[in-house]
Amino acid sequence: MPRHVAVIMDGNGRWAKQQGLPRLLGHRAGADSVRETVRLSGEWGVEALTLFAFSTENWARSSDEVRGLMALLARTLRREADELDKNGVRLRTIERIETLPTSVQKTLQQTIDRLNGNRGVVLTLALNYGGRQEIVDAVKSLLVSGEAVTEESLSRHMQTAPFPDPDLLIRTSGEYRLSNFLLWQCAYTEIYVTPTYWPDFRREAYLAALHDYQRRDRRFGKA
Ligand code: IPE
Ligand code: IPE
Ligand code: MG
Repeated sequence: MPRHVAVIMDGNGRWAKQQGLPRLLGHRAGADSVRETVRLSGEWGVEALTLFAFSTENWARSSDEVRGLMALLARTLRREADELDKNGVRLRTIERIETLPTSVQKTLQQTIDRLNGNRGVVLTLALNYGGRQEIVDAVKSLLVSGEAVTEESLSRHMQTAPFPDPDLLIRTSGEYRLSNFLLWQCAYTEIYVTPTYWPDFRREAYLAALHDYQRRDRRFGKA
């Protein structure tokens, strides 16, 4: 089993279009896939799940969509807090959180605090996240610390520290690109691309990705 699974949750808009629905209903259906993915991660012993929920580039979408996504995030956190707690999930974020709406920041912090003592899956939400920006921030913080610049020290200054790099990166909706996600951390991550749109990515689809991972031969450059 992969210890750390990262997911680029893509295809909500296309899923909605396919159903003749507004994009926001695609995002809403996507939230149900999040619930299922978190639950199954716990059942299967995945220790860390990192979900790309909103990129630094996503601010360029219509203000209606951005507002809708932020409201959905806060609502989903409030609605799911009980179940997350019951399942022992811990919550953290990687982000530049200060640019999120203050109400969303508050809900996030409340939920993080509430789940703080749990020992199950560590759920990391990437919000207003960009991989290059994260590297720049880590370099700045490393230079201020005065430590020697090494791969190990830079890793410690990334927001993903102290968690191990993802073993498996899943991307839904059939796009073969990283879209600025975890650029530093995915150096040796196994990549799994599925044409399934995120709202359709449920139990069977996740299981297929995990089975695919189990067949991979991870060589890390060795012969
Ligand atoms: C992923 O679905 C959700 C976010 C990026 C916030 P999209 O909204 O990107 O869906 P498509 O790519 O337009 O289908
Ligand atoms: C990647 O999806 C970002 C998230 C899943 C949050 P996008 O839909 O923003 O990526 P592109 O535009 O297809 O690269
Ligand atoms: Mg997309």
